[in-house]
Amino acid sequence: MRIACRISPGRKRLSKMAVTSDIVTEVRLRVQRARSVAVLTGAGVSAESGVPTFRGANGLWRSYRAEQLATPQAFARDPVLVWRWYDWRRQRIAACCPNPAHAALAALERTVPDFLLITQNVDGLHRQAGSTALVELHGNLWRVRCTAEETVQDLPAVLIDTIPPCCACGALQRPDVVWFGEPLSEAAVTRASQAAERCEVMLVVGTSLLVHPAAALPALAKRRGAYLVEVNVEPTPVTAYADAAFQQPAGIVLPRLMHSC
Ligand code: OAD
Repeated sequence: MRIACRISPGRKRLSKMAVTSDIVTEVRLRVQRARSVAVLTGAGVSAESGVPTFRGANGLWRSYRAEQLATPQAFARDPVLVWRWYDWRRQRIAACCPNPAHAALAALERTVPDFLLITQNVDGLHRQAGSTALVELHGNLWRVRCTAEETVQDLPAVLIDTIPPCCACGALQRPDVVWFGEPLSEAAVTRASQAAERCEVMLVVGTSLLVHPAAALPALAKRRGAYLVEVNVEPTPVTAYADAAFQQPAGIVLPRLMHSC
């Protein structure tokens, strides 16, 4: 399948066919030669696995209002409702497998000396695909956190016996994810920002770039001289200044870009 792409302004324009193969080759070479690569992913990377995205035609925030479910206030008001929603999402995700985009990124990690995958996804599919150099900026659905002691533990069971689950100390447990209005882990943000500052190549995959601080990472990388590659089925705020932008599904583009890495 041909990959539709655009090249950054100022670069010599070639015929569509030549541009396509030229830019794929250039991205491959850039990635192969880079000592340091950072990748930022969002819900789009899991779309081909069957996990709904947040925005767009079938996005989760079309059917549910974020502030009714993904806020500390919502949890304080109705923890059962919030937990039912998270349990439903966990069930949906449990039926999904990593796709070729997750696999391509896990394979890329093994070829680059300094690699970091920064994801906004809480679905755990990057980890399942084998990625280990990973920052989960918004947490992980498969962990719970005690609301009193802040202790974190894995909760791999798909169906939770008692909703809402409780800690041994008696306090409620909550999903170990970041809700609207909550700060992100400072350590995670620092690790992600440092990777964006020092990378030679940044891949931005399947994110609408509407949520901060993740949305600021591509511009930070670009300012520090990184070669910026976007993979998204639709244009985003990054498309205008990316060095290469592929408007095709990540599960098709990433394996092709990584083919000879
Ligand atoms: P969004 O749902 O906002 O955006 C998904 C992006 O993926 C869109 O830009 C789509 O065009 C793109 N996309 C869809 N299918 C694709 C495919 N097969 N290949 C490539 N791209 C594809 O999701 P995020 O940007 O991840 O935060 O949203 C960021 C944050 O907003 C989420 O982490 C979540 C949400 O509210 C919290 O819950 C804290």
